[in-house]
Amino acid sequence: MTDFAATKAMFSLPEGILYLDGNSLGPLPKSATSRVQEMLTDEWGQMLITGWNKAGWMGLPTGLGDRIGRLIGAEQGSVVTGDTLSIKVYQAVAAALELNPTRKVVLSDNGNFPSDLYMADGLLRSLGEEYELRVVDPEDVAAAITEEIAVLMLTEVDYRSGRMHDMKALTELAHANGVVTVWDLAHSAGAIPVDLAGCNADFAVGCTYKYLNGGPGAPAFIYVAPRLAETVRPALSGWLGHEAPFAFDLDYRPGNGIERMRVGTPPVIQMTALSAAMDIWDMAEMTDVRAKSIELTELFISRVEATCPELKLASPRTPELRGSQVSFRFEEGYAAMQALIARGVIGDFRAPDIMRFGFTPLYIDEGDVIKATEILTDVMQNKLWDTPEYKVRQRVT
Ligand SMILES: Cc1ncc(COP(=O)(O)O)c(C=O)c1O
Repeated sequence: MTDFAATKAMFSLPEGILYLDGNSLGPLPKSATSRVQEMLTDEWGQMLITGWNKAGWMGLPTGLGDRIGRLIGAEQGSVVTGDTLSIKVYQAVAAALELNPTRKVVLSDNGNFPSDLYMADGLLRSLGEEYELRVVDPEDVAAAITEEIAVLMLTEVDYRSGRMHDMKALTELAHANGVVTVWDLAHSAGAIPVDLAGCNADFAVGCTYKYLNGGPGAPAFIYVAPRLAETVRPALSGWLGHEAPFAFDLDYRPGNGIERMRVGTPPVIQMTALSAAMDIWDMAEMTDVRAKSIELTELFISRVEATCPELKLASPRTPELRGSQVSFRFEEGYAAMQALIARGVIGDFRAPDIMRFGFTPLYIDEGDVIKATEILTDVMQNKLWDTPEYKVRQRVT
């Protein structure tokens, strides 16, 4: 059993703050401060460029990939970290399209994160007019999977509502129609158990700054199924994905397996922070995390619905159908969220009217949920949101 009191003690959580936004940016693992400090002074400071070998910096992308892989059901050696998620989406979709060269349509849904759609659109434009990005409603995805589709690109857990796609069923249906799949796990990794190998997924991508707690700007990850890893051609053929980067050949030859999905120099400072965060994940089992997350979200929903009738649940009511977040609709949701943040309950807002709350058992417990709902009730029942200062939109919502 995961000891959640022990994991909670490993985070630096500011006094008086109830942090329900770990689905956007996880909090600081206490050990990250000293680990990054040591990396700066002992490794960069003392070793200078020899740190790439002596301190193992060059192995961080795959080493961290394997540690993340455990949480998402990936085979050893099938995940690598680096770049940002948008870049990894591009890489995955480009590689997936090349596996299906006679087909020209990428299928996605309008619950997908816009950056995924933008990246696919940009890629398809550069490939030619005959390519198409087809975007349907989430509930129509299954029916839209036909033999015309080259690639199915979906985010498993909807960033706004928390609604989950059935990865196994859709992957099976895709394969039955000759479609290659790309799954975005931004709201899945560290939130729900994922079984990439068991689902026979082809490609998956995700970020590490949300549930994995790697810090702002932490690197993304990409998974390529081992059965494809020696075949796929990287569209972003950077030198560190080359078979022999330090041969400095003028011609590109893809590296072994997942190594070919590396692009350029890894962000070592950021990866050091991520590795401190992964130490905490090493103490956790995803089945325990999921069970606790369902308890917390159920508690939150029942308490909010009992005292705040203006808030309308925007997440699936059935816990098995939602990720580790709960969203409520409220016309003045932006102002209400600002009022909550001013009172120490941090969630976030997604246009046009979604108040979003993330539940992260590694550092949030029942007591926190109860306190947060008491403050939310006060904000709603006493209309504490109804002041001009809470209605001024900031750059990041
Ligand atoms: C589902 C999803 N995909 C892609 C992105 C974009 O990620 P990045 O900014 O790291 O490129 C996000 C960011 O939150 C996301 O939630």
